Amino acid sequence: MSKFPADQIKTIGIYTSGGDAPGMNAAIRSAARIALYHGLDVRGIVGGYPGMLSGEFVPITQGSMGNILQRGGTILKTGRSPEFHQADARAKAAANLRAAGIDALVCIGGDGSFAGARLLHQEHRVPIVGVPGTIDNDVFGTDFTIGFDTAVNIALEAIDRIRDTAASHDRLFIVEVMGRDSGFIAVDVGVAGGAEEIFFPENAVTVDEAIDHIRRGMARGKKSSILIAAEGRKPGRAYDLAEAIRKKSGFEAKVCILGHVQRGGSPTAADRILASRLGAAAVDALRRGECDCLAGVKGGQVVTVPFEQALGKKKTVGRELIELARMLSY
Ligand code: F6P
Repeated sequence: MSKFPADQIKTIGIYTSGGDAPGMNAAIRSAARIALYHGLDVRGIVGGYPGMLSGEFVPITQGSMGNILQRGGTILKTGRSPEFHQADARAKAAANLRAAGIDALVCIGGDGSFAGARLLHQEHRVPIVGVPGTIDNDVFGTDFTIGFDTAVNIALEAIDRIRDTAASHDRLFIVEVMGRDSGFIAVDVGVAGGAEEIFFPENAVTVDEAIDHIRRGMARGKKSSILIAAEGRKPGRAYDLAEAIRKKSGFEAKVCILGHVQRGGSPTAADRILASRLGAAAVDALRRGECDCLAGVKGGQVVTVPFEQALGKKKTVGRELIELARMLSY
């Protein structure tokens, strides 16, 4: 966490970065309205880091934040920017911000976006506070990220539907959910949807174990099963799992990949409230002269956590939930 003279801030820039997440608009709205409430000017940076590099800044007013709370996606657009890994790109972004009179930033995104923000702060002294927004819930330092609850509920609704057709046909299904490096979505959906097995990056379940599990269920009269697989680094891996299961056991599994459908749609109440709290907390931190940190939630309380303590650390799915999922489907 760094300190800076808070009275030097007149204008705050807000941007969304990385994969979009339902609730990002609620976070933009909250950060903007709290800043405006305190007499600050607000600019939106269009498209995340690429917009910072091209100088695409738009004024934000109370009115322009109307009717966005309930909308999925991000009205400011988002993107991933390999270019921002270069120091000269960050120097250009800092010069653009200075020229536009933007004194401080609120970055809504995941830890990749925060890593870029941290470098911009370290190299060019731009005060920045992060707001964790990603469906993956994999940001260390906060119990929940914006978008996670909505993604889990969307996936769960799909799994309940699949359960109906699986039961009607006595079928085995593998449902693939998002989650690049972590299994938060897979585990929550697995527990809430009563999955028979959950494959995710932190869990070393083998295909043989999954087959044993399915057989055990069949022996006690179970005729249909649903396995959940986090996509990990290889979207579409559910097909590989289905093939491996077929080769080893002869069981034919239907595959359903939920993909980006989990990232769209109206945010849940929980995500709107989290986004409203964290967007406001980020602006409050800047107004106290705190930066180089993220605004998160721990045990229900809003906290600020220095980037230094949060970035590069792996947030892991709780063993208790994993064990519970295993026992419930035994
Ligand atoms: O980080 C969020 C996420 O949705 C991951 O779960 C997923 O692996 C990745 O983004 C997909 O990214 P993209 O939309 O750029 O393909």
